[in-house]
Amino acid sequence: MLKGKTVLLGVTGSIAAYKIANLASMLSKLNADIHVLMTKNATNFINPVTFETLTGNKCIVDTFDRNFQFHVAHISLAKKADVVLIAPASANVIAKMANGIADDMLTTTVLACKCKKIVSPAMNTNMYHNEIVQHNIQKLKQYGFEVIKPDNGILACKDVGDGKMPSEKVLVDYILKEIAYQKDLLGKKVIITAGPTQESIDPVRYITNHSTGKMGYELARACMLRGAEVTLVSGVTSLQKPPFVTVVDVKSAGDMFEAMKERFLQNDIIIKAAAVADYRVKEISAQKMKKGAEESLTLELVKNPDILRGLCEYRNSFLQERGQGEGLIIGPTIVGFCAESENLLENAKEKITKKGCDYLVANDISRKDIGFGSDDNEVVILDKNGGMKRLEKSTKTVIARKILEYINE
Ligand code: PMT
Repeated sequence: MLKGKTVLLGVTGSIAAYKIANLASMLSKLNADIHVLMTKNATNFINPVTFETLTGNKCIVDTFDRNFQFHVAHISLAKKADVVLIAPASANVIAKMANGIADDMLTTTVLACKCKKIVSPAMNTNMYHNEIVQHNIQKLKQYGFEVIKPDNGILACKDVGDGKMPSEKVLVDYILKEIAYQKDLLGKKVIITAGPTQESIDPVRYITNHSTGKMGYELARACMLRGAEVTLVSGVTSLQKPPFVTVVDVKSAGDMFEAMKERFLQNDIIIKAAAVADYRVKEISAQKMKKGAEESLTLELVKNPDILRGLCEYRNSFLQERGQGEGLIIGPTIVGFCAESENLLENAKEKITKKGCDYLVANDISRKDIGFGSDDNEVVILDKNGGMKRLEKSTKTVIARKILEYINE
C-alpha cells in the first residue's frame, strides 16, 4: 500500500516512544521506506538499534553523525519524505517546531521538509493543557501541521486526563490518509450505506439479517483513502467506525431512507451496500409480546420502501427538472448491490433495470466463504449500458478498491 513512499518518524523523549517500534513494524509491512529520527532524550526510552532493525535504515540522532550515506542528511531526508510524523511529540519539541528552532537532527529536518507534517502530542495532562503548550499547538496548526488530539486515559505518571498518544493503528490511519493510493476522489463527496436494518416487532425483538457491515465499511475506508469526503449511513454493527468518515447511525429501513433522502443529492457517488429488509411488521407492539396459549403466531408484514429505487427515481426527476434550459448536468452516480442465492447474473441483470442504478455489484450470498460476514468477497459488477466486470475472490479491502477503480474509470 505504501510501496515507493518515504515516511519520516520523529521520536521524542516520552514513555510512549516504545510504541513507535510497533508503528515502524506496521508501516514496514505496508512496504513503506521508513527513516526514524530521534532526539537524544528519546534514546533514554528506546534504543535506536530497535528502529534500525525494523526499518533497515540508519536511525539518526546526532546532526553531525557522519556514519551514513547522505552528505547533508537533514536536507536529503526532508526532500525524500512523503510525510513526517512526530510521535510522541513532547512539549519541548512542539515548542521548538512552533518557533522555528532547529538544534538537532529531528527539528532541523522538520524545518527543511515541504511535505505534510503530522504531530501527535503525548505528555502529562497538566502540561498538555498548559496555555503555552496550547498556544504552540495552535501555532503549529496555523503553519499547516496536522495535530492529532491525544486520547484521554491513565497516563504514565498515573494522572488521568488528556495527553495519551493514540494507538499505533490510529497513527497509521493518519499516514495512510495522507499518502496511500492516488487521491483521485479528492473534492468528491461519497455516501455509503452499510450493515443490516432492524425492524422492530416489540421493545425486545426485531427482524434483521446476517450483514455485518464489512463490505460497506471497507468501501467507506477506500473512498476516504482516495481523498473523498465520506458519509457512512450504518445499520447496527459491531465494527469500529472507519477514521475520518462521518457516520450516521440508523436502525430500520425507514431511518435509512430518511437519512439518505436528506443527504444524497449533495453527493457525487452513492453506494448502497446495506442489506435492507424488504418488509417490516405492520404494527409494532408497544409492550413486550406475551407468550400465549396458541402454538403459532402470525406477524403481518408490510413492504418497506425500496431505498435504492427511490433514490434513483428522485435523482432522475431532479436531473430532468434541472436539465431544462441548463445544459448538461451530471447527477450523482448510483451504485447498488445485489445479494442473490441463485441465478446470480440473471437476477442481477433484471435488478439493475428494475432499480435504475448506474452500477450493480452482485454477490452470491449462498456461499460461506464470501458475502455475508466473511472477510472476502467475489463479485460481478454490471453497468447500465450492459458492461460487466468480474472480480475474483479477494479480501473485501481489495474488492472495495477494485469497485472504485472500475466506477472511476
Ligand atoms: O455486510 P457484510 O457482512 O460485509 O455483507 C455484505 C453484503 C452481502 C450485505 C453486501 O455485499 C450486499 O450484497 N449488500 C446488498 C444486500 C441486499 O439487500 O441486496 P438486495 O439484492 O436485496 O438489494 C438490492 C439493492 O437494493 C441493494 O443495494 C440494497 O441496499 C437495496 N435495497 C433493498 C431493499 C430495500 N428495501 N431498499 C434498498 O435500497
